[in-house]
Amino acid sequence: MMIRVLPSARRAAEAVARLLAECLAAEPHLVLALPTGRTPVDMYSALVRLHRRGRADFSRATTFNLDEFVGLAAETRASYRAFMRRHLLDHVNLAAGRAHVPRGDAQSPAREAARYERAIADSGGLDIAVLGIGANGHIGFNEPGPTLSARTHVVRLTLGSRRANRAAFGGRTANVPTHAISMGVGTILSADMVVLLATGRAKARIVQKALTGPITTRVPASLLQTHPRCLVVLDRAAAGGLRT
Ligand code: PGA
Repeated sequence: MMIRVLPSARRAAEAVARLLAECLAAEPHLVLALPTGRTPVDMYSALVRLHRRGRADFSRATTFNLDEFVGLAAETRASYRAFMRRHLLDHVNLAAGRAHVPRGDAQSPAREAARYERAIADSGGLDIAVLGIGANGHIGFNEPGPTLSARTHVVRLTLGSRRANRAAFGGRTANVPTHAISMGVGTILSADMVVLLATGRAKARIVQKALTGPITTRVPASLLQTHPRCLVVLDRAAAGGLRT
C-alpha cells in the first residue's frame, strides 16, 4: 500500500485526477470504477479542467460507478447517475453507452446487480477502481458487518450512510432510500489498481483504522491492505491519525 499525503483536499483531488489522465494517455481503453460523494467532486472538476486543456481523453474509456440507490430513476436529481452527469459526463468526451451506473429503478434490483457484474466482466474487468471511504469504513456501499459480499449485490444501507446522504434528499434522512446496488468487495479488489481518496479531519480516524488496523469485515476498507497495488491519497487532515 502506498500512501501520499498532499497539503490540501484540493491538491489531493488534483493528484488523483492527474494520475487518471496519465493512465488514460498510456491506456486509452481504460476501464474505471468511479465513486460519488462529496470527496470526489474536486477530483471530477480537476478532470474536467484537464479535459478542456486536452490532457484527459475519455473517448475510448469505460466507466462503472460503484453504486446507486435502489428505487431512483437515472433522471432523478438525487441519483448517482445524475451526480455523474453534473460533475463529469456532461463535460467530457466519454461515450454515454460506456458510462455505466447500476439502474436504481430496475424492476428486479437483484437481477440488475447480476447484470452489472456481468457487464464489468464483459468489459474485460476493472483496470483502476477509484474509491472514497465512508466514516464507517464502507467502500462503495459495502457496509460493515459480520460478512461482506464479493460481487455486485443489493445492500441495506446503515442509518449513518443514509444520514450522510440526506443533503440530496431535502435534508431528510427518511427520504434517503433504504437500499442500494453496490459492487462487492471482490469486484473492487479485482481491479488491477485501487486508488482511495480521503480528505478532511472527519475521515482521520477511519483512515487510520482501515490502513493500520486489523483486516476485518467490520471495516470494509481494511481489505484494501490485501491489494497488491493500492494507492491512498490523503490531505493532511485525513492523514492526522497516521504516523507519517
Ligand atoms: P463522502 O462519501 O465523500 O461524501 O464522504 C464517501 C463514501 O461514502 O464513500
